[in-house]
Amino acid sequence: MKLSKKEADKLAEKFENKEPQEVLKWALDTFHPKISLASSFGAEDNVLVDMLSKINLKFRVFTLDTGRLNQETYDLIDKIRKKYNAQIEVYYPNTERVEKMVFQHGMNLFYDSVDYRRLCCRIRKVEPLMRALSGLDAWITGLRRAQSITRTGIKKIEIDEAHGNIVKVNPIVDWSKEQVWDYIKKNDVPYNVLYDKGYASIGCEPCTRPIKPGEDIRAGRWWWESPEMKECGLHVHKKK
Ligand code: ADX
Ligand code: SF4
Repeated sequence: MKLSKKEADKLAEKFENKEPQEVLKWALDTFHPKISLASSFGAEDNVLVDMLSKINLKFRVFTLDTGRLNQETYDLIDKIRKKYNAQIEVYYPNTERVEKMVFQHGMNLFYDSVDYRRLCCRIRKVEPLMRALSGLDAWITGLRRAQSITRTGIKKIEIDEAHGNIVKVNPIVDWSKEQVWDYIKKNDVPYNVLYDKGYASIGCEPCTRPIKPGEDIRAGRWWWESPEMKECGLHVHKKK
């Protein structure tokens, strides 16, 4: 099932002021089983797992294990797996690509230059994402507009031109951080314990650190780079 850009724009308009559960219900009714949630097990993604589980117990979820995640994240993946009886599809980077990269540029190449950081993200995240998305008609993300200056133009329903024109569904794109945490508390949703240690956005262990009070929520991601650089390539947004 494919949508044209025009159809996607119309649907985005229709769903703009609707609740995320309505968007998810439409998405599952339209695309299941060729739709899956991309989860890094951040707060937003866990909210979506909880909502999906209440719509269809057979919802699909995948994660990209870069090999550089925090132990706390692995612990959470298993917790979610048990609580929701979720079949989590885990994708790994290509072994030979990682071996070559580390041989040529070292273990911690990401600190050396933006190009090396992007190379690492490409090999450990972006290429596995392509595999995860192949065979899907749609994917769901936990993106929010307020997360970053690179995300302000995202719609609830989009055509993902970077990934074979499949549909990209962003049900909580208009939510605030407070709405996410209210939902987590009200629904007793498991979350990464790193949030209690000052982390505001969680990615790979060497590229993520806690933030100080008042700092931007993505200040702890790739903190040595400028804000407009801070995308790993999973999400390609056109300037609006
Ligand atoms: S990132 O591009 O900077 O890493 P971020 O951590 O904000 O992204 O997450 C935004 C959305 O991208 C998440 O809600 C999730 O849908 C998807 N995502 C990010 N990292 C992963 C991952 N490792 N595996 C699967 N999906 C991911
Ligand atoms: Fe590599 Fe850091 Fe990107 Fe993870 S976030 S894939 S460790 S550069």
